[in-house]
Amino acid sequence: MRIIGLRIILAICKCKIFLLVFREFSVILCSKLTKYFMQERIIILDFGSQTTQLIARRVRELDTYCEIIPYNKFPYDASDIKGVILSGSPFSVYDKAAFKTDILKLRKKYPVLGICYGAQLIAHSAGGKVEPAESREYGRANIETFSAKDDLLNGFSKKSQIWMSHGDTIMDIPENFEIIASTKDVPIAAYHIKDEKTWGVQFHPEVFHTTDGSKLLDNFLTVCECTKDWSPASFIESTIASLKKQLGNDKVVLGLSGGVDSSVAAVLLNKAIGKNLTCIFVDHGLLRKNEFEDVMRDYEHLGLNVIGVNAKERFFRELAGVTDPEKKRKIIGKGFIDVFDEEARKIENVKWLAQGTIYPDCIESLSITGTIIKSHHNVGGLPKNMDLKLCEPLRLLFKDEVRRVGNRLEMMPHIINRQPFPGPGLAVRILGDITEEKVRIAQEADAIFINGLREWNLYDQVWQAGVILLPIRSVGVMGDERTYENAVALRAVTSTDAMTADWAHLPYDFLSMVSNEIINKVKGVNRVTYDISSKPPATIEWE
Ligand code: XMP
Repeated sequence: MRIIGLRIILAICKCKIFLLVFREFSVILCSKLTKYFMQERIIILDFGSQTTQLIARRVRELDTYCEIIPYNKFPYDASDIKGVILSGSPFSVYDKAAFKTDILKLRKKYPVLGICYGAQLIAHSAGGKVEPAESREYGRANIETFSAKDDLLNGFSKKSQIWMSHGDTIMDIPENFEIIASTKDVPIAAYHIKDEKTWGVQFHPEVFHTTDGSKLLDNFLTVCECTKDWSPASFIESTIASLKKQLGNDKVVLGLSGGVDSSVAAVLLNKAIGKNLTCIFVDHGLLRKNEFEDVMRDYEHLGLNVIGVNAKERFFRELAGVTDPEKKRKIIGKGFIDVFDEEARKIENVKWLAQGTIYPDCIESLSITGTIIKSHHNVGGLPKNMDLKLCEPLRLLFKDEVRRVGNRLEMMPHIINRQPFPGPGLAVRILGDITEEKVRIAQEADAIFINGLREWNLYDQVWQAGVILLPIRSVGVMGDERTYENAVALRAVTSTDAMTADWAHLPYDFLSMVSNEIINKVKGVNRVTYDISSKPPATIEWE
């Protein structure tokens, strides 16, 4: 009897040990799976500042994934948020129309860093005093005193240069706030809330001229316990995992344009859902010379399932006589979606439309302050009654990040390094109405310019180049003949993300060669000019 009793006790113990080991194992497995499927992120709450995107770039440069979210759309339910940054704003905290959010709800839950207006908003909501500064402060300043022990300012150098840009200033802070940095003119240049992971800085750490700005942001990410392991490889891994989850066994059609964005999106989706992805490449007749054939060949190499659709006639018909740039964009945007819809209907059970939309497309199309600069066709032009759900895996990446992802996916360099080309194609480079003859002229001239850039090894030095067909004619002389022909403008810019751009300082000899070749070879052109405007105030495309 005793032996049987002992055996039973032993069996129970073994069982308990097994359960304990099993529980430990499940906890570890769950945490690994959570990390795999959920990308930890920093949220940047956007109060409308012009430097909000810069904050995002700086955080990403510190290998941490972040997202910009409108000030009133904070995802309180999400469990993957490591910290929150409040951006600046064109408003004053006292303005009736000022963008506000419930700061207390954030402070209690996450590490928070308020920048400029963000810092003022935290102070104001806690009972501090924010007032218009006696003299508005824009530009360089130096930190006079700072608390070297503070986690946020760890590693700051003495007299560190900072960049100010504010009309209001924080005059008084509540008792539980401590000043951690001051300048000659701004006593409360930075503060910390005691016993909390909340900071406010009056200056802009995201701006290049704030010399220790990256250090400050890095310190904040450390406080947030970010793993700082966001990289193209981790983006690919987590995106493929979440696409699998989001799309399941659904069928997807993807709009290919030949550009790096849609190509990278296609390769990611192909890895996630394989045969359930059908790519559609529409020839709207406004592509570059021979582009349709070249691109179709490239996609074959990538192993993608691509349907090429010749829809030239339809687009030319719908665009006939239309001169307004926004109308042209909307017609092309809608045409694209209609063609996708038609093609998608031919494939059974398609539920999703995927696009290679990237971050600048979204920012410029949907500004929270309501200013629409240009409605990019893959964002602003979407009809409300579209039958398909939208999937945009690159929506939060900048172009250079997309290229890094493409390299990591080992895609062909000439696809990765292909210069951006607008979705509406030559329609936004032919000023005024579109005809097939004008498209021929724009294509011929563009091919000479782009091939020339390649031959002179200048292609990779410029962000983007193309030819604009101007809506004017001018007098010239060819041989003994008077001509009265079209003028074109060459446009080439340098940029890192298309948000700002400078005109490319191309060699005179090169420009001279291109000009001669265009005038000699392209029937209908007798004058070539070079566009020397930067963005802002101009934009890259002319329409
Ligand atoms: P802008 O002209 O606004 O262009 O300085 C910025 C960048 O965006 C490209 N672009 C577009 N891309 N659909 C697109 O897919 C569009 O409607 C569109 N408009 C401009 C432009 O070529 C440049 O790279």
